[in-house]
Amino acid sequence: MQTVTATPPNPVLPNPLREGLRLEQTPPPCAMVIFGVTGDLTRRKLMPSLYELAVGTPLPAGFSVVGVSHRGWDDATFRKEMRAAVAASQKEEMEDASWDSFAQGLCYLQADFNDAGAYGRLAELLERLDEERGTAGNRIFYLATSPSYYPTIVQNLGAAGLAHRPPPGEPADHQPWTRIVVEKPFGTDLPSARALNGEIANVFSESQVYRIDHYLGKETVQNLLVFRFANGIFEPIWNRQYIDHVQVTVAESIGIEGRGKFYEEAGALRDMVQSHMFQLLTLIAMEPPSTINAKTVRDEKVQVLQAISPFRGAAISGDVVRGQYGPGWIGGRVVPGYRQEPGVEPDSTVETYVAMKLRIDNWRWAGVPFYLRTGKRLPQRTTEIAIQFNKVPHLLFSRVGTMPPEPNVLTLRIQPDEGISLRFAAKVPGAMMQVRSVNMDFFYGTSFAARGPDDYARLLLDCMLGDSTLFTRRDEVEEAWAIVTPILDAWAGAPPPPFPNYEAGTWGPPEADALIERDGRRWRRL
Ligand code: BG6
Repeated sequence: MQTVTATPPNPVLPNPLREGLRLEQTPPPCAMVIFGVTGDLTRRKLMPSLYELAVGTPLPAGFSVVGVSHRGWDDATFRKEMRAAVAASQKEEMEDASWDSFAQGLCYLQADFNDAGAYGRLAELLERLDEERGTAGNRIFYLATSPSYYPTIVQNLGAAGLAHRPPPGEPADHQPWTRIVVEKPFGTDLPSARALNGEIANVFSESQVYRIDHYLGKETVQNLLVFRFANGIFEPIWNRQYIDHVQVTVAESIGIEGRGKFYEEAGALRDMVQSHMFQLLTLIAMEPPSTINAKTVRDEKVQVLQAISPFRGAAISGDVVRGQYGPGWIGGRVVPGYRQEPGVEPDSTVETYVAMKLRIDNWRWAGVPFYLRTGKRLPQRTTEIAIQFNKVPHLLFSRVGTMPPEPNVLTLRIQPDEGISLRFAAKVPGAMMQVRSVNMDFFYGTSFAARGPDDYARLLLDCMLGDSTLFTRRDEVEEAWAIVTPILDAWAGAPPPPFPNYEAGTWGPPEADALIERDGRRWRRL
């Protein structure tokens, strides 16, 4: 096992995704309004990330958060609850002084999202923050509610004059600016995503809309672009002439974590494939953009989605496998099956596992299958992309009694154990000519001393800075839905699947193995 060590990080090197030193820039003063602030997302992700930004990076003085929810809280309760949420996310004890300074900017508005009057009160509160805390009229509205509220909130923001759509011809970041962040799931299929895009476009211009997919905030996901386009040696072989196939795995050992109601309406195809996995896929398969900015990167990603061969008729059952976990063992303890989880129907046909084979019909990728798999309650948490190269054309060492060498595999480990490894053949030391595969490994943790901000923190900061490169554009989200909607429709019209069809703690249903083995290939053993 060898280790590739990176040269020490140079703090003045530009981050290619930000065209400069944006992380060293302080975003302009602003207020962030979080709708649905009493929910799980705010506790687990948003507030800890905002706090991380506040203590670790230069958030603007006066940065304020307005939490909006129907719950009967006041400012003091809001601050107390958020402190507990942030404390639970910290490895070390929180410093009172840091928290107190951050908490001064937290205020709460009790409101029913359907009540038009509440938006007038919100406008007054925001004006007061402008005067008292200097938020300068800049606003971010964050939709962290159940998606069914999105259209209502958007319409009401428009009606209350809070959208501040830039006049035609004005730059998107004209002062003061207003932006809206929309959490996933963005729609449930193509028609609903189009309808939601339409609702939003009635009120906001596309340049104000930040559709968030937290996978794009992961350091290792952004590194996919750096790896491909800042190194000279990979791009020439990144195509059908050298690559046999690509495997993308997003395995989770957790179940649905008390989100039964949400998951019953989502399922793995919507929850993971249409969003996170397609983001990984597009970054792996896209053409090099001429420059890195929000337009060029997203243009290239959309091109990949448009080139994916549509799933129709028989191809759906042949190329897509769905599964649902039954009870089993993980980490030495018994876990319930999906149908036994709270909030799940006892005869639910919702999938917790998907495996699929995709084809990208363009000059670079024609004939190279992309195999995707994701599931809950698999034996371990691993997200990785494996590029398997072609076999050697001629077996030079086969006559000396050794196994033919395995093909080279380049593995990009997204999480955990973030890093990259290359598998290649080497001679086993000794008098015999024996060949064995070895790994050359790069580990983020040992090569770089510093840790970047977490995924949400990075994306929130980008939104404050007005950089939408790492957010999903309107056409991109619709293209992604266009690929999976025929699968959802076919499943809805098919007889109920024989669920559960895999035990918790195993690698998914046998049909998933058959899907890839039919092509003479195997899923990677992780
Ligand atoms: C979320 C999904 O978007 O991503 C969850 O709704 C999933 O079901 C989560 O567990 C995975 O994110 P991460 O960052 O833990 O890989």
